[in-house]
Amino acid sequence: MPADALKAAQGVDKNRQWTRLMELAEIGAIPGGGVNRQSLSTEDRQARALLVKWALARGFEPSVDDFGNLYVRRAGLNPDAPPILTGSHLDSQPSGGRFDGAYGVMAALEVLEALSDAGVETEHPVDLVVWTNEEGSRFAPGAMGSMVFTGVASPQLWLDVMDDEGIALSQALAETLEAMPELPRRSFGFPVHAYIEAHIEQGPILEAEQLPIGVVTSIQGARWFTVTVEGETAHAGTTPLKLRKDALQEALAAIQALNAFMNDPEDVLRFTVGRLDLEPNSHNSVSALCRFTIDLRHPDPAVLRAKGDAIETICAKAMRACAVQVTQNLGLPCVAFPEAIVDTVQASAQALGLGHKRMPSGAFHDASFLAQHCPSGMVFVPCAKGVSHNVAEYATPEDVAGGTRVLTASIVALSGA
Ligand code: GLV
Ligand code: MN
Ligand code: MN
Ligand code: MN
Repeated sequence: MPADALKAAQGVDKNRQWTRLMELAEIGAIPGGGVNRQSLSTEDRQARALLVKWALARGFEPSVDDFGNLYVRRAGLNPDAPPILTGSHLDSQPSGGRFDGAYGVMAALEVLEALSDAGVETEHPVDLVVWTNEEGSRFAPGAMGSMVFTGVASPQLWLDVMDDEGIALSQALAETLEAMPELPRRSFGFPVHAYIEAHIEQGPILEAEQLPIGVVTSIQGARWFTVTVEGETAHAGTTPLKLRKDALQEALAAIQALNAFMNDPEDVLRFTVGRLDLEPNSHNSVSALCRFTIDLRHPDPAVLRAKGDAIETICAKAMRACAVQVTQNLGLPCVAFPEAIVDTVQASAQALGLGHKRMPSGAFHDASFLAQHCPSGMVFVPCAKGVSHNVAEYATPEDVAGGTRVLTASIVALSGA
């Protein structure tokens, strides 16, 4: 570990980072201590503006690309060298916590400041990045910004996606970009030397094992589907069961059959039906339409492929009088981070005297896509009881500072101080 890496890590200011995290959490604050700061919303724009204010106050250089991914550069000694990227997302779940995403962004800002405070110059520039719409709860799917950046998808694919209020992504994006008119524009897919993302674990392992650092080795793959069951609405009091085309009942039969098929005695596979929409959604009417979502995850690409590919047939078999349509709207690869990056993160934790373990990520992250573009890795910190996507999400000031020190040291080690 270069001496400058440890010197820079000592520049991490626990109180500054914590104060900022808490100030950020006031934007979109909801009862219970959480946040509702969904992608490209007014609150998302306010959070971006606050970040830009903090960046400019310190002389760093903000910029933005056409999909709203926001960057903040701390210049390197070699202006032509590709940057090291570090960051995460500022959008949240509708009843999300204060740390998911926001921690990785505040950790990145703290890295830039720690480098400046410690007087450490890096060969490569270091760019903070905020990826647009990682959560996918307002505009599905998630990880749009990192998919667009890495060329996995073109922005046109999603411009017409609507939120529940009928607002198109194109409009919300235009409003977000209009709110940052003075920022220079970056292009997608510029060369990146390495990408490292800090994040809360979103699971219970580090806390249970009393380890402050997770050295992330891989991210399991995921597939998202939408299943639409179409029947016919009818009067609840008069229509005999055998004459009904009840979309909800047949969707429930499909979900039951899927649950049986997805049952994994080893509890590795993750199958979740997280959303169910009904039409007309009325107390005394048979459902004409039931649409539900499937989030399927597994670390083995062959299992993920086979299980996901069977969904359509299982749903079709469960239908009695209704029609069913299954569409996939997200496919996240199973990712293994390069050993060199994993080793660097581990060596940083070691050099800083922080207990750690190598572990896979059950949640997906923008790093899932960046890993296809440049050498990538992640640092996890513990979160209370493993709770995330929940207003009760919590990580201690000490743990978030520890993760940021590891992130800082890793970045200096990778960017050649
Ligand atoms: C990311 O938010 C995920 O669902 O894993
Ligand atoms: Mn996240
Ligand atoms: Mn999340
Ligand atoms: Mn996420």
